[in-house]
Amino acid sequence: MTLKKNICVIFGNPVAQSKSPEMQMQFAKNSGIELEYLKVLAPLDDFSGSLYEWTQKGIIGANITIPFKEDVMRLCDELTEEASLAKAVNTIRVSKDGKIFGHNTDGIGLLRDITQVKGYDLYGKRVLILGAGGAVRGILKPLLDCQPTEVVITNRTLSRAEGLANEFSVFGAIKAMAWDELKGSFDLIINATSASLQATFPVLPKGVISRESVGYDLVYGSEPTSFMHYFQENGGGEVFDGLGMLIEQGVYAFEFWFGKKPAIDGVLEIFGRQ
Ligand code: ATR
Repeated sequence: MTLKKNICVIFGNPVAQSKSPEMQMQFAKNSGIELEYLKVLAPLDDFSGSLYEWTQKGIIGANITIPFKEDVMRLCDELTEEASLAKAVNTIRVSKDGKIFGHNTDGIGLLRDITQVKGYDLYGKRVLILGAGGAVRGILKPLLDCQPTEVVITNRTLSRAEGLANEFSVFGAIKAMAWDELKGSFDLIINATSASLQATFPVLPKGVISRESVGYDLVYGSEPTSFMHYFQENGGGEVFDGLGMLIEQGVYAFEFWFGKKPAIDGVLEIFGRQ
C-alpha cells in the first residue's frame, strides 16, 4: 500500500524529543500544503531497512537526525554540494521513481538565520569558530560564501581545526589558530563545541570578545548555555542560541521538498518562545 497524501518523516534514535513534526506541520499549514509528518525510531543496527520500508510506502522526504546523518549518505542516489562538503545529510527528498536525493540544510540554515533573520552582514567581518567537529564542516562553505575578511577556526585539538582550514581554504580566507593564541577581537564568534553543555566554558584570551562582538551558540535549550553566559560576562554584545538555526534548517528542508519557502509564523511558540 502506498501513501495517498504528502508524508514526511524524521528518522532518529532517539527521536521522541524532536520538534520537527510540529514545526514542519506548521510550515505546511502556513503554505496551504497538506502534510503528515511522523517520527520514526529507526533501529541502530538497521537504518537502511527502515529507510527502505518508508520509501516503499511513498514518503516524499525526510529529516535525518542523530546518529544516522553519516550512514544515510551511502544510501542516497545523489548528494547536493552542501551534503558532500558537510559529509552528512540531514534532509532527503524521494522522487516518484524512488530516487533519494541527499542534502544538508544545517549550514545554510545557520547563515540564513544570521544574515537574513537577524540581519548581520558578514561581508568584510572577522569570524571566529570555536570547535572543529562535524557541525563545523557543514557551516564553513556557506560562511565563506558571505565573504568575511577572515574566518579563524580554533579547537581544543588544533590538528582538527588545521585539517578543516586546509580543506576549505579553496572557498575563502580561513586559517586555524591555537585556542590560547587567538589575537584581536572578532565581529562574530560561533560556538560549535559541546563545551557549552558543561557548567563552565573554557577561557578565551583577553580581547577576543568585545562590545561589538556578536555571539552564536549552535546549541539551544530552555536555558542560556555556558558559552552564552561566558560571552556576556566577558563584555560581548548580542548573543544567540541555536534555535534560529534549527528553524531555518527546517525552512530549507521544506523548500527542498515542496519548492517553496514557508512562512515561519507560529513556529517560535512551538519552542516556548515568542
Ligand atoms: P559535532 O558533530 O556536534 O560537531 P563532535 O564532532 O563530537 O560534535 O565535536 C565536538 C567539538 O566540541 C569538538 O571540536 C571538540 O573538541 P576536540 O576536537 O578537541 O574533541 C569540542 N569539545 C568538546 N568538549 C570540549 C571541551 N570541554 N573544551 C573544548 N572543546 C570541547
